[in-house]
Amino acid sequence: MSDPIAIRKAEHLELAQSISDGVGGSAGWEDIHLVHQALPTIDADMIDISTVLLGRRLSFPLVIAGMTGGHPGAVEINRLLARAAENAGVAIGVGSQRAALEHPELERSYTIVREEAPTAFVMGNIGISQLIEYLEAGLIDRHVATLTEMVGADALAVHLNYLEEVVQPEGQTRARDSLAALAAFVKASTVPVIVKETGGGLSGQVARRLKDIGVSMLDVGGRGGTSFAAIEAERSRARGINQKNDLGNALSTWGIPTAVSVLACSQVLPTIAVGGVRSGVDAAKSIALGAVAAGVGRPLLVCATEGEDSLGRWLDGFQLQLRSAMFLAGAHDINDLASSTKVVLGSTKEWFSQLGLS
Ligand SMILES: Cc1cc2nc3c(=O)[nH]c(=O)nc-3n(C[C@H](O)[C@H](O)[C@H](O)COP(=O)(O)O)c2cc1C
Repeated sequence: MSDPIAIRKAEHLELAQSISDGVGGSAGWEDIHLVHQALPTIDADMIDISTVLLGRRLSFPLVIAGMTGGHPGAVEINRLLARAAENAGVAIGVGSQRAALEHPELERSYTIVREEAPTAFVMGNIGISQLIEYLEAGLIDRHVATLTEMVGADALAVHLNYLEEVVQPEGQTRARDSLAALAAFVKASTVPVIVKETGGGLSGQVARRLKDIGVSMLDVGGRGGTSFAAIEAERSRARGINQKNDLGNALSTWGIPTAVSVLACSQVLPTIAVGGVRSGVDAAKSIALGAVAAGVGRPLLVCATEGEDSLGRWLDGFQLQLRSAMFLAGAHDINDLASSTKVVLGSTKEWFSQLGLS
């Protein structure tokens, strides 16, 4: 493997598993409380945990976050994740497809997802820095079509990752034409476009700008889960690039906590809660804050490296946790959960109040 993108992707996979959650601060779930209903009115196993995401029914409100593709080790991981998504009836994203646009021989690590998940809701993926380049080169239309066909995409996700790019030794920080590039991408796409952050979170203000150009859905990618500032700081440290390592450390708590971003964004567009969702209980809280589904990255990556059984156990546990939280909160279905009463404490309450969110 000599391609620099493939090498970087492989390093991300490895480091994401060794750097623990919350190095960059909390996602805020500990501050969100659903009110206990001591006298539920239906049995736990009668609760309907299914939901609808962009018109497609999911057995439960989970998105396997887009993580990988573009290097040889990604084929097996994406195969297992896709099979799990298909069996469980949930949605799945792939990692950035840039590698395959530049090196079509790497397509297999993405096409495997649609092969293994013929009926699942599959999301393609590309980064904002690439979109700016494609806009300049007049390649948006052509690449939109390739990205969509490669995975039989039901939606295309564009990731915003400037927090990562500023710390990454080889990072790109061009941003001037970002909104124009996104608008052109939305216009060219035949499927809904999702904009996702990757650890910095999305504010209500950004959400409104995205809504104005026709984006269909947001994935908040908030602070509190996998930290690309930490991952890139570690890559810089290993290369002796001290200034970038120091920058990554200085930015370690940067970002909007996931819970805050979910409340802000869901008032603007349908929103997926991603960033430090670690249980079905976190997911229940995110739905009570306004999310239509929760997305999980790192824990599922770790399970995929352990094998199919591990993934199956994690997904079963997630459903049990979600169903139990709904039972105890008196919610019969996802709509009930969305309108259930919650108590917000601590620094999350402070974020809500200072951003004028309620
Ligand atoms: C190893 C790894 C690679 C990732 N690569 C991408 C990517 O290529 N495109 C993208 O949009 N998000 C990428 N992500 C971000 C995830 O989609 C998600 O936003 C992030 O992992 C936060 O969720 P978590 O805290 O549950 O891990 C990646 C995450 C991991 C762990």
